[in-house]
Amino acid sequence: MIQAAPISKGLNVEAIRKEFPILERLVKGKPLIYLDNAATSQKPQSVIDALTEYYSGYNANIHRGIHTLAEEATAAFERSRDTARDFIGANVREEIIFTRGTTEGINLVAYTWGRQNIHAGDEIIISGLEHHSNIVPWQILCEEKKAVLKVIPINDKGELVLEKFDELLSSKTKLVAVAHVSNALGTINPVKYIIDAAHNVGAKVLIDGAQSSVHLDIDVQDLDCDFFAFSSHKVYGPTGVGVLYGKKSILELMPPFQGGGEMIKEVTFEKTIYNELPYKYEAGTPNIGDTVAFKAALDFVNRIGKENIKRHEDELLEYATSELLQIPDLKIIGTSAEKASVISFVIDRIHPQDLGILLDNNGIAVRTGHHCAQPLMDTFCIPGTVRASFAVYNTIHEIDELVAGLRKAIKMLA
Ligand code: ALA
Repeated sequence: MIQAAPISKGLNVEAIRKEFPILERLVKGKPLIYLDNAATSQKPQSVIDALTEYYSGYNANIHRGIHTLAEEATAAFERSRDTARDFIGANVREEIIFTRGTTEGINLVAYTWGRQNIHAGDEIIISGLEHHSNIVPWQILCEEKKAVLKVIPINDKGELVLEKFDELLSSKTKLVAVAHVSNALGTINPVKYIIDAAHNVGAKVLIDGAQSSVHLDIDVQDLDCDFFAFSSHKVYGPTGVGVLYGKKSILELMPPFQGGGEMIKEVTFEKTIYNELPYKYEAGTPNIGDTVAFKAALDFVNRIGKENIKRHEDELLEYATSELLQIPDLKIIGTSAEKASVISFVIDRIHPQDLGILLDNNGIAVRTGHHCAQPLMDTFCIPGTVRASFAVYNTIHEIDELVAGLRKAIKMLA
């Protein structure tokens, strides 16, 4: 028998759900239960409205025109930058570079700071639970520069082994690039410790904030990281927009990423003088409409409050963990003491993809597979997992439906 569901304190989840029109749709004739938020979150009406208002009211190119629409679009775009700066506690707006997303932010650092500062024999440290986007750019760089990529191992709970990290650090370490929260397991990494330890040997630190920015309070000045990258689409905003934060003193010394309009002050055939920060790293016409709507997403999160969101998601995670563990032969992969609202699991003798398909038949969206973290799956000797990831609009009832859907699927597949 299903127990009475605990009710989240202080958060009117039913009212929040009404702000997300997509949650009213049916999938395969069943009410949508969206548990794939680590892949991308759904968008509130305010974000959809901001996008429509931009295209129907003041669509124009920015930083170029003197006409009214151009001025309105430029002002809205720059307001997003200020909101993003406040969202992560950056010191000045020049430190906020708009990108296509976390992946582009990490690549920007690899192609600019990396090419300038990494030399033969230098070492870059990543961790054993990175997403491919925080592995491959560093592999490419290390190959090109004959540098060495080192990996912090993880234990069987999916936590970083910090003693091994300490052993890897040396004067050869030039960069440490780690995820704040693992997309595949939900592990919250002790990034403050990592940043301080890396700085002690003179290394710079990049934090992949793709999964943390929506769940945790971010204060880049308090963390003291050198770079922090995150994406709008995981924070209830549109796809195709992200932020790379970099300390101003570091960004100023880096070469440009892409050449083109907007990143220049003056061009002759002989020489180009680059624009000031942050425009030096924003070549070409940016994704204006989505960036403008990104502000509405951050406003949404600020209105609900990160603390409230986290408390609700923690309750969902705790409830889901205890309910899922009652399913015979189910094993949770990633049991770190510090976790964000991601739960990955496998069930003996059943392929994750088969479970995913049967859950979808019940309107339940989860992600299955390696979650773009193949080396991590290799560590656990599994091809992949089923991953349920929660957002502010998810409910205890939906977790009950997930568990019921799994029990039904197991009966069909076992
Ligand atoms: N990085 C995203 C995920 O974890 C796409 O699903």
